[in-house]
Amino acid sequence: MNLENICQEVIATAKSAGAFIAGERVHFNAATIEKKGKANFVSYVDKMAEEMIVADLRKILPEAGFITEEGTATDSGERFRWVIDPLDGTTNFIHGTPPYAVSIGLIDHQEIILGVVYEIFRGECFYAWKGSPAFVDGKVIHVSDAATSEESLIITGFPYGDLQYVDEFTTAIRYFMGNSHGIRRFGSAATDLSYVAAGRAEAFWELGLHAWDVAAGALILQQAGGKVSDFKGSDQFLFSGEIVAATGKYFTEFQRLIAEFYSKKQ
Ligand code: IPD
Repeated sequence: MNLENICQEVIATAKSAGAFIAGERVHFNAATIEKKGKANFVSYVDKMAEEMIVADLRKILPEAGFITEEGTATDSGERFRWVIDPLDGTTNFIHGTPPYAVSIGLIDHQEIILGVVYEIFRGECFYAWKGSPAFVDGKVIHVSDAATSEESLIITGFPYGDLQYVDEFTTAIRYFMGNSHGIRRFGSAATDLSYVAAGRAEAFWELGLHAWDVAAGALILQQAGGKVSDFKGSDQFLFSGEIVAATGKYFTEFQRLIAEFYSKKQ
């Protein structure tokens, strides 16, 4: 299997889905929005983009199954599975606020082996495959050298559905307010991870994410010299809903802090 060639094909798929999404944004009708939950939205744009992506990916790797946000394809696949968020940052999209991205990962059993994140608003494509450097638009990217909170810009996602761990979250926010360069909430986890990979921020954590939000971005970050885990430091970040990610040098401290802030969470 030539992952580099597959990656080029996936980039083309992500960009054509991105062009469709950007085109729909121009005349987007908010009346078409459906609610999947409180502050959890979906539109025909998400669903149609996912169908387009799935159709392309079936041609690229016919034996692979799918894990997708909108559930338009459910074949399980014996070994390979595409992990797709056709529009990561749907809330941003419906408000016309950047960033929002197409996120496509490929897993081999539980291991992520390819990731493409196409951030539509700025037209930037981040990608990597197992064993490669990480790239944005053909340029190699690397995490920053930051090793402490005091040198770091931190990204997170605010809780919005399950508010059970808001106290833990605000404890963390309070800490980083006083001990970092600041905190950002961009609203697209795939983009957040790619920005840490590109050295635009140093760390990211969020609770309640799905595999399709993080699979591609996590591999891009790892290939750029970053590290990723769940809150307790194990590699179970894909399906546990917990993700901690940071530069290679800052990761140990950042993960320890998040584990401490969320120590009451089982
Ligand atoms: C969302 C984004 C956002 C995060 C949410 C996710 P979606 O993905 O990644 O940053 O805070 O938890 O659900 O729903 O727009 O694909």
